[in-house]
Amino acid sequence: MKFQFTFTGEEQLRNIEGLLDDWFKGGFPRDAVLPFRSSLLKTDDALAAASLYKRGAAGLRDDDTGKLFFPEKIPKQTEIPEPVFFETWPDFINTRFTQSHDREKTIFVLDKTLLSHHPSVARSISKTKARLFIFECTEENKNIDSLARICSEMTGGLTSVIAVGGGICCDVAALAGCLQGLRITLIPTTLLSLADAGIGGKTGINHRFAGKNQIGLFARTDEIICIHELLQSLSGDLVTDGLAEILKHSWLNGNFEKWRPAAEKLLSQPAGSAFLDADVQQLISENINFKRSVTGADPFEKNLRILLNLGHTVAHLLEALILHQKSGSGEVLKLSHGMAVLSGLKCLLENSLIGSAPDGFHQLISAILKRRNIHFPLFDLGNETQKAKDILIQDKKNRLASVSQEELRIRCVLPQYGCLNRIPDSASADKFTDACIAYILPDELIGYIKKSGIIS
Ligand SMILES: NC(=O)c1ccc[n+]([C@@H]2O[C@H](COP(=O)([O-])OP(=O)(O)OC[C@H]3O[C@@H](n4cnc5c(N)ncnc54)[C@H](O)[C@@H]3O)[C@@H](O)[C@H]2O)c1
Ligand SMILES: [Zn+2]
Repeated sequence: MKFQFTFTGEEQLRNIEGLLDDWFKGGFPRDAVLPFRSSLLKTDDALAAASLYKRGAAGLRDDDTGKLFFPEKIPKQTEIPEPVFFETWPDFINTRFTQSHDREKTIFVLDKTLLSHHPSVARSISKTKARLFIFECTEENKNIDSLARICSEMTGGLTSVIAVGGGICCDVAALAGCLQGLRITLIPTTLLSLADAGIGGKTGINHRFAGKNQIGLFARTDEIICIHELLQSLSGDLVTDGLAEILKHSWLNGNFEKWRPAAEKLLSQPAGSAFLDADVQQLISENINFKRSVTGADPFEKNLRILLNLGHTVAHLLEALILHQKSGSGEVLKLSHGMAVLSGLKCLLENSLIGSAPDGFHQLISAILKRRNIHFPLFDLGNETQKAKDILIQDKKNRLASVSQEELRIRCVLPQYGCLNRIPDSASADKFTDACIAYILPDELIGYIKKSGIIS
């Protein structure tokens, strides 16, 4: 059955949410055949819910009639568009947007914080006939309420959405655009969203108890645009968060030596000025193209794309554990995603789990962590080992291998430096990916994290 969704209003999304809640409570895996009752919810809406559940396009069983449904996946996007670069926002609006025929049928979803740095962006949009939705981009707002509000703004014959903002803005606007069948243009404005989040078609929102990005779709992105001027307002912290994913990419494709000068410029110069540098622009462009090539080869995360999770198993664990930790002075500790990824890389390197690093790699990780004032050990795990194990087992990315409950092992991505220097062809991609993966006992993994001094 084809995935066909016609948005009929906020209430419909509420009903879908109710079904998703039930499935999350039931702990169904992403590829399960999920139960619903056609007496309570329309089959089309239940199919939409199944496609959104853990971004899995699961099957569906109508418990009233016993009928089974399997939604067709959204057509695979083999060619992720090449990014188009503009120096300034007026360049984009004047040369590209005002000439476009469908500007009256376009909605911009704008990141509110971005707007506080670049108020002329909203002014120039209001001079066109496009619609404008200003979105307060926080993880708390990355939820079904915002999705419903944005979808409601997209009615009335619109044909395209342009998201301008960081990863949160791009993830939510693209999901709404996909549900509404609009053409999707992303203008990522953080280094992390440019180098990583905005590229590859994953969209999503958080679920209030199941967690981050648990509701979403693989969407087709029609256009990716980078506007240098918008990057000049990035803080040092936002730059280092983006650098973390760039370093991860450099490990995978073996480009560290080549990218190092630009990465060091980003680290050492005031953020705004560094983005004007030709080396930095080249760095951004090559990162986008690397992510495009991996996600284009594996749009639905069946094999190669899994390798992009390098450092993330440890990162997700630290991010989840740290939510409840306090520093010596009683403040709640904070660890951004980028810094958690760097901590994850540090752990893998110091336990010799991914082979040896090129000169300067480890030092750059340490310099970034130092710049962000991250001190190890981050915290003392104390008697929370069981909690850490539960987090590892529940993380949807940590596919498990098990012989028995006691033997549950966590999937860890352990690639050697430069392994994706050339993208393997589709016939060998499964085998290639398997060779870069190890299944590790939760206790063993926690032991590695302690051994590298990241936690005590
Ligand atoms: N879809 C994917 O494949 C994917 C991959 C990785 C991460 N993500 C998601 O992306 C999000 C993280 O993205 P992010 O790091 O961009 O975070 P973000 O969207 O929260 O942006 C960080 C902060 O920067 C502000 N901001 C945006 N552009 C700015 C600019 N030019 N100048 C100054 N401030 C600016 C935002 O308002 C926000 O306060 C997470 O929700 C994560 O789950 C998605
Ligand atoms: Zn990441």
